[in-house]
Amino acid sequence: MDRRQQLFDRLAPVHQEQLLRFWPELSPAQQEKLAGQLDEIDFNEMDQLIREYVLVRPKTRIPDDLGPAPYFPLVPKDEAQRALYEKAEARGAELLRAGKVSCLTVAGGQGTRLGFDGPKGTYPIAPVTGKTLFEYFASSILRAGEKFGKPLTWYVMTSLLNREATEAFFCEHAFFGLAPEQVFFFTQGTMPAIGYDGKLLLAEKDSLSLSPNGHGGTLLALRKSGALDRMKREGVEYLSYFQVDNPLIPVVNPLFVGLHDLENSEMSAIMLAKTGPFEKLGNFCVTQGHIEIIEYSDLPAELAESRNPDGSLRFIAGSPAIHVISREFIEHLTAGGSLKLPWHRADKKIPCLDEVGNLVKPSEPNGVKLESFIFDAMPLAKRTMVLEGRREDLFAPTKNPTGVDSVESCRALLVDRDARRLEAAGVKVPRTPEGKVDALIELSPRRIFDQADVDAYVAEHNLREIARGAKLYLE
Ligand code: UTP
Repeated sequence: MDRRQQLFDRLAPVHQEQLLRFWPELSPAQQEKLAGQLDEIDFNEMDQLIREYVLVRPKTRIPDDLGPAPYFPLVPKDEAQRALYEKAEARGAELLRAGKVSCLTVAGGQGTRLGFDGPKGTYPIAPVTGKTLFEYFASSILRAGEKFGKPLTWYVMTSLLNREATEAFFCEHAFFGLAPEQVFFFTQGTMPAIGYDGKLLLAEKDSLSLSPNGHGGTLLALRKSGALDRMKREGVEYLSYFQVDNPLIPVVNPLFVGLHDLENSEMSAIMLAKTGPFEKLGNFCVTQGHIEIIEYSDLPAELAESRNPDGSLRFIAGSPAIHVISREFIEHLTAGGSLKLPWHRADKKIPCLDEVGNLVKPSEPNGVKLESFIFDAMPLAKRTMVLEGRREDLFAPTKNPTGVDSVESCRALLVDRDARRLEAAGVKVPRTPEGKVDALIELSPRRIFDQADVDAYVAEHNLREIARGAKLYLE
């Protein structure tokens, strides 16, 4: 049977035969390309997804017993907990010294809101030097490796759309001082975009409109790429997971890793106290004894606004997407070579070909992209752990060029964190009457990982005061 007929027989029963509309015009190589993409798709499953997520607007079911998730507070509540935190921090450092921890950055997103041409990790973020996000992390990973006496391996997830550009960027910059074998790139899967009428969209005559399948794709991609095998070979047990657009994050956190280990957790998360009931962060909830993260848009307003007797928000715990994940948990989840996480629907303006093959760039959303989210793996873990973090020390997302969660706010937060570190080391930092740092300061992440590094730097350079309006890079 010819190739077209074969494909047609798979597509027609699920009403997707339009994907072969331009087949006769395609060269054999183009036909092969399109056929290859179609072969990757289980069309019965896709048909089911379309019915569930595209043709109707899926509703998140809110369990009746939904409550706020328990967490370890930032400040230990009693002596026993203080002792536990101390033990955990020591345990984390021990695990790092033993090389049992690696870093994992998800960098496969399209960064549409930032509107930057190129992988988001190549964005120049540092407030004084303009170092890129990738360089900022790489420097920090180098320094953390030095501190713990064991170089850290860095797993970097890309997508089919940015893998080449990402790798080329690392090569051009000599891996920012890391040994090339310290960096393991891997590629997440894709999902086809779907029009509101339930038809898969074509980006070109020989290609579906494909986009990365969400950061939930990380887990399976770790298996398929051989990353899990490498971790196992090298005796790595835990991954310190963070997003490429949050340079404020410490690339490894001994307390967090240590507590994850002591609590026998399979997947752990950092939580932040939300700034208000509707802050755009996932909410840590608990149902049937399992921790679940419910998106801000899915948590009913009456729950989001409900309060404890002391007036604090009941659902106070927001997710900044920072995790420690056990290798064995990922191995177990993906053992059969597949992983089913729920899908999340995003309505998008998706450029696509019309019936005669012209490219249409819609001004209004015309279809749906489906993504899975890594936090949906939490309810699948036998044990989980949530630890409160200090927002100003670990969360500065770079989503937009200006305004909330932007390049601007991220840079201001980086300056503020570094100023506070200098102040803690006894340096006088100029501030405006409102308390804003009145200088541009950047501590080199290559030189400074933690407060001890700042203290040493300040002592070595006999640094006492920063001049008002100064622009300083300290390395
Ligand atoms: P976001 O959901 O903020 O998406 O990703 P984004 O692609 O960066 O930006 P927008 O929404 O298009 O403006 C959060 C993190 O998850 C990664 C991103 O690279 C970022 O680090 N991510 C997201 C992936 O690695 N793969 C995906 O499919 C989606």
